[in-house]
Amino acid sequence: VITPVLLSGGSGTRLWPLSRKSYPKQFSPLLGETSLFQRSAERLSGPAFAAPMVLTNSDFRFIVTEQLAGVGIDPSAILIEPAGRNTAPAVLAAALWQAKTDSDALLLVAPSDHEVPDAEAFRAAVAAGVPAAKDGRLVTFGIKPTRPETGYGYLELSEDPGDFAARPLALSRFVEKPDAQRAAEMLSAGNYLWNAGIFLFTAKTIIAAFEAHAPELLGPVKAAVDNGKPDLGFLRLDPEAWDGAQDVSIDYAVMEKADNLSVVPFGSEWSDLGGWDAVWRESGPDDKGVATHGAATAIDCENTLLRSEDEGLEIVGLGVKDLIAVAMPDAVLVADVSRAQEVKQAVTALKAKK
Ligand code: GDD
Ligand code: MG
Repeated sequence: VITPVLLSGGSGTRLWPLSRKSYPKQFSPLLGETSLFQRSAERLSGPAFAAPMVLTNSDFRFIVTEQLAGVGIDPSAILIEPAGRNTAPAVLAAALWQAKTDSDALLLVAPSDHEVPDAEAFRAAVAAGVPAAKDGRLVTFGIKPTRPETGYGYLELSEDPGDFAARPLALSRFVEKPDAQRAAEMLSAGNYLWNAGIFLFTAKTIIAAFEAHAPELLGPVKAAVDNGKPDLGFLRLDPEAWDGAQDVSIDYAVMEKADNLSVVPFGSEWSDLGGWDAVWRESGPDDKGVATHGAATAIDCENTLLRSEDEGLEIVGLGVKDLIAVAMPDAVLVADVSRAQEVKQAVTALKAKK
């Protein structure tokens, strides 16, 4: 069996004003009835999976337990990070915790803010990666790139993915978040896939990779796990030890440096709902590119997303083009579609003003 490790500590500021520090996007029903976090947990349940581990922070711990209970999933552990240190320390903490009981255990690290409509196909891709993971490989999942996205990692293949059948292929390189020019080059080169941000390995393989490529994290994170305090079903990692861990993502800390990477191509639909432009693409826009949500009406609009997050708040678009408008009871975003990724900076500016 595979133990899912759900990462849900991010704050998702690019989806402001829906995503807030106190209630980030992964816990909101962005596209359907349930939240992205709930759907991620459900996607990784069934006969092939053990009860999931969740890594989050103190503010979200009760949202996590409530939302898991809402879909009938009982976690094996909820690890609480005293402060956000990005994904590398979080993944290492999960692996060290798991290794206390079983260092050969298979871990599937997954973000909790993605949309993968075909859960069956996804589980098949995961199953296809198991032999490689058991064999000591760090298994990534590769998506066919469709634009020169700079917010993703790129996987350089040493063989042709062919028909995108789910099987592990050798990987020659991992390039995290390239600049625009590199991204365009890799897109046209044809032998690169996007990194889905989902990883499969055994606890002992990933711990060895940290020992080799990010040894400075090992001491603090191990101490944080060993001195962690059980608290109402949560494990609170030790704050003092955790303070000594560097803020770095697993992509930079390990994946870019490792030489035992494999990739399973994933041919079905996948979206990192990283910004309002992605939500707009995933909301099923009509033939004019218009998508609405909640109490929203679009008249003669083009390439526009209108979302009202409050029943009593009517939003009407009239003759607008390339616009994103998201209305919350206490805040409204109005942005050009091409600037969707800059919402993050807008939030920083807003914080500075307060
Ligand atoms: N528990 C915890 N603690 N979770 C975290 C933390 C943290 O400190 N920081 C981020 N996360 C969670 C986020 O909520 C998200 O679910 C996941 O970890 C990945 O973090 P992101 O910050 O969203 O990463 P990214 O999107 O910039 O890049 C990653 O994903 C891309 C695909 O979506 C990389 O793996 C890229 O290579 C990849 O292409
Ligand atoms: Mg992301």
